[in-house]
Amino acid sequence: MRLEPNPHLLSVAPMMDWTDRHFRYLVRQISRGTLLYTEMVIDKAILHGNRPRLLDFDPSEHPVALQLGGCDPLTLAQAARVGEEWGYDEINLNLGCPSERVQGGGFGACLMKEPDLVAECLAAMREAVKVRVTAKHRLGVDELEDYGYLTRWVEKLEAVGVEVFIVHARKAWLKGLSPKENRQIPQLRYEWVYRLKQDFPHLRFVLNGGVRTLEEAERHLAHVDGVMLGRAVYEDPFVLEQADRRLFGLEHRPSRLAVAQAMIHYAEAQVAQGTPLWPVVRHMLNLFKNQRGGKLWRRILSQQATRQGATPEVLWEALEVVRAHELEQPSTQAALAPGLRSS
Ligand SMILES: Cc1cc2nc3c(=O)[nH]c(=O)nc-3n(C[C@H](O)[C@H](O)[C@H](O)COP(=O)(O)O)c2cc1C
Repeated sequence: MRLEPNPHLLSVAPMMDWTDRHFRYLVRQISRGTLLYTEMVIDKAILHGNRPRLLDFDPSEHPVALQLGGCDPLTLAQAARVGEEWGYDEINLNLGCPSERVQGGGFGACLMKEPDLVAECLAAMREAVKVRVTAKHRLGVDELEDYGYLTRWVEKLEAVGVEVFIVHARKAWLKGLSPKENRQIPQLRYEWVYRLKQDFPHLRFVLNGGVRTLEEAERHLAHVDGVMLGRAVYEDPFVLEQADRRLFGLEHRPSRLAVAQAMIHYAEAQVAQGTPLWPVVRHMLNLFKNQRGGKLWRRILSQQATRQGATPEVLWEALEVVRAHELEQPSTQAALAPGLRSS
């Protein structure tokens, strides 16, 4: 079986309310090679809703994958086609979300109990588009936590042509645990994902769940094809600082000040197009995480950028304050001198 060069080496997970286009733009300033996923978008919302609002992204976000939620082969196929036309590099199906709302719609993690239907959905999506179609799932759900079940699941999806499996390495409890608890309580079993790679060496497996650092990701890469990071990136986007150099062979050395500058220019452009300031700025709060002045940056942004009528000017002011704290090496400071506002 033929797989193109591996774009899944490192990716940022789909996260509702977090990985919107503004956060993805920020991550892209830090890593050019990392594959980015959208939040889950429900297929029917794409078919009947405001497509530009749901799907627009900046060209710099490539490579970028659209994650769909749904359980109807027809509407999933139609939504996948729209996603492809919109320019996404991959269409992914969410088979791991246990929220009650998603369960109510009959999709997400509860589909792990219905491999035949999932295979039908993925087959229809594959038929509808030329870009790759991938699955993101758990190890199992409820009482279905059994390696044999998982291998039959992979075989079923492989039979309809799925080649890339993103595995959140724990099962989900559909009743009794909140989505947040379902990302913490069920035990992580990385060895099951390693074993899948051994049992299906011709398929691509991406390990997800609880990976906090690039070093940890690199250790997993000795066993699997890719690693997907979620919360660690949102909580400190600079966890990806060395990703381009260490994993993608790219000579890109992001600095927090330069990323902040790029984001302020981006915020200015967004505000000029009518986007309110806060939806952009809220993703910038952790940009100086664990740095001197980082808490101050967060506080100034939270207080000033939420005010009615706030303009991107507050961001420049906050950056001046942070620079005064000498957050970065003198060499980076010098590279930025004299004006913070140069692009
Ligand atoms: C706020 C939040 C929203 C999430 N939304 C989605 C989603 O829309 N689709 C999805 O497949 N997983 C979603 N997830 C799960 C993540 O993609 C990922 O599988 C999970 O957080 C485990 O990875 P991590 O430990 O690296 O965060 C979400 C996680 C978080 C924290």
